[in-house]
Amino acid sequence: MTGKVELLLPAVARSAAVTVTPLGRLTVPSRAVPERRVMVDPQELAGLRDAARSAADRAHAPYSKFTVGAALVMADDPERRVFTGANVENATYGATICAERTAIAQAAAAGFRRIAVLAVSCTKAMHARLADRSPCGICRQTIAEFSTEAPPSLVLIDSGEDDVLGDILDLDRLLPYAFRITP
Ligand code: THU
Repeated sequence: MTGKVELLLPAVARSAAVTVTPLGRLTVPSRAVPERRVMVDPQELAGLRDAARSAADRAHAPYSKFTVGAALVMADDPERRVFTGANVENATYGATICAERTAIAQAAAAGFRRIAVLAVSCTKAMHARLADRSPCGICRQTIAEFSTEAPPSLVLIDSGEDDVLGDILDLDRLLPYAFRITP
């Protein structure tokens, strides 16, 4: 049995830049994400990673043959049950739904709104570079819809390595400038 471990999410900082053009100023906005420490349970992360891998076996991916699984626990679920999903493709291609969104839809339809940890496993992209096994833009925006600042919702991306639990990010680092409607 392992206990919880502290995770350091490093700061991301970039200063603004302005370029003056004949038609007006072009601004590259500054970005400052402070360093943050969070507690994670490696046992739970390993369980979610394994559940995501198994879920990928249930993918309906006859067109791309790229099977993806996702598994998550919700912070507002006192039972911390595991919801899973897999990509479900469609002959129209455009009606395809990704693994992350099928899993999130399961959890949301069960009444939960705050993601604690979401694991994703692209079983055909094991050992590939991070971009080849990371959630797509639409999924990032859907994760943002159900993410919380404190404690930060975390995304665990399976790397396929035996001695690695995965790559882990919070939303500030996964989707800078996420679109939000402030009520
Ligand atoms: N896919 C996912 O399930 N999640 C992602 O974040 C990226 C892409 C699926 C969609 C499609 O069925 C297949 O992977 C190839 O793009």
